Amino acid sequence: MTGKTGSKTETRSASAKRSGSCGDLQMAPELMMELACKAAELVVERINRLHGEDAWEGEFRQELEDRLMGDPPEAGRPAMEVLEQAAREILPVSLRLDHPRSFAFIPTSPTWPGVLADFMTSGFNVNACTWLVASGPSQLELVVIDWFRRWLGYPEGAGGLLTSGGSAASINALVAAREQAGNPEQATVYMSDQGHSVNIRAARIIGIRPKHIRMVPCDGHFRLDMEALVRAVAEDRAQGLNPIAVCANAGTSSTGAVDPLEKMAEFCEAEGIWLHVDAAYGGFAIVTDQGRKLLRGIEHADSVGLDAHKWFFQPYEAGGLLVKDVRTLERAFAVRPDVLQDTIWGADHPNLSDRGLQLSRSFRALKIWMSVQTFGMAAFRRAVSKGMELAARAGEYVSEHPMLELLSPVSLGIVCFRVNPADSGLGEDTLENTNRAVLTHIFWDNRALISSTTLGGKFSLRMCILNHATTWDDVKETLEAIAGFGEEAVSNLAHT
Ligand SMILES: Cc1ncc(COP(=O)(O)O)c(C=O)c1O
Repeated sequence: MTGKTGSKTETRSASAKRSGSCGDLQMAPELMMELACKAAELVVERINRLHGEDAWEGEFRQELEDRLMGDPPEAGRPAMEVLEQAAREILPVSLRLDHPRSFAFIPTSPTWPGVLADFMTSGFNVNACTWLVASGPSQLELVVIDWFRRWLGYPEGAGGLLTSGGSAASINALVAAREQAGNPEQATVYMSDQGHSVNIRAARIIGIRPKHIRMVPCDGHFRLDMEALVRAVAEDRAQGLNPIAVCANAGTSSTGAVDPLEKMAEFCEAEGIWLHVDAAYGGFAIVTDQGRKLLRGIEHADSVGLDAHKWFFQPYEAGGLLVKDVRTLERAFAVRPDVLQDTIWGADHPNLSDRGLQLSRSFRALKIWMSVQTFGMAAFRRAVSKGMELAARAGEYVSEHPMLELLSPVSLGIVCFRVNPADSGLGEDTLENTNRAVLTHIFWDNRALISSTTLGGKFSLRMCILNHATTWDDVKETLEAIAGFGEEAVSNLAHT
């Protein structure tokens, strides 16, 4: 094997020097270095500038189309010019998800080793599809998956793969669930009415008819109502339908609510129904003591999806899926075409493409591994805890503020609230209009970005605090601005 790396390989530099030119799609090593240094410089400068800039930057379609639409050039132009144009005109025109005041949706703030890992993975041109094609990367993915397994409290024999994100994790999990159930006709899938839309889509993709996707109501804290689930399953069985999977939330994206995982696992086991936990957002809370308590019961699920590109500080895309028995995934996905017969090295040398929907796969494990090796788990635990602490503090601030009202219990890193001055007697429509106006003000007139959701019919402002670089000042000043805009909006009402 070692002979393969020795004599045959001539460095690009030597080859370029010898021929005095580069191929059509090649570059001289000096230029490659110059461009890579420039790219690194532009990215580091961006990160250092971030705090002083707005969390959101965007443009309307026509402006961007005028700027960017055009035929691909027949002849190229200087690479440095192209690089700088990308950094100036394209890349910055987007939500800065890693801005310390980026509180909308589910933000993320990648670590630098993670960013570099993606660059190196591309440079080494890894395809993490099979053991033969990428044995080092495959082994590293098994290492990272084993870390996840231990954090989740899963047994030996559990396993999985890294995916593009929570969407792919849910699809893979539901395929495994369907096959485990024997792919019955008239199959049904259940989730709470707070379940993420990707689970609805995953159910559709595996062939569940929309009318057989059950949205189970929640309790007052936006957690799935167990009795309603039990009833729904019993009614469906009585109608001759075949329940195959329940998707539980371990951190809904609206409020951060965690479903009653222990009870759901007990019920699903007794009923022979696959339990998938969508922990895309909340899953990495498991590395902290507080998170482990909140997610108790997750270890009993048949599968868990969790996104390192959310609360484990990695660049997109870095999702993961673990199943309690890795053979359930392999039975569902392994296909052995003749053209890939050379890649079958036996059970000790798994082909990760046999565990999910992709054959060609990017090497996502490296970013997670490099980040953890560089900073250590203690730093990751502190960073995840910090989000929960800041969210709890924001919740207290809101509860004590005379202009603000908490609309759901703070859970994981999410705070849902609205402007509602104490004793104002404002009706629901007026409150909604007022809070929409506040949201618009923050969007256009403040460095921070927050988003909204609807909770039990009430329009709610929503802050998701996950960034390891966010400080209490970032949170408090944003809340102060919201209260200030709220006061303005309410006094405008009084004058109309
Ligand atoms: C709870 C939850 N599940 C699933 C997803 C989808 O994950 P992805 O965007 O990585 O596919 C999200 C995304 O925000 C989420 O918050």
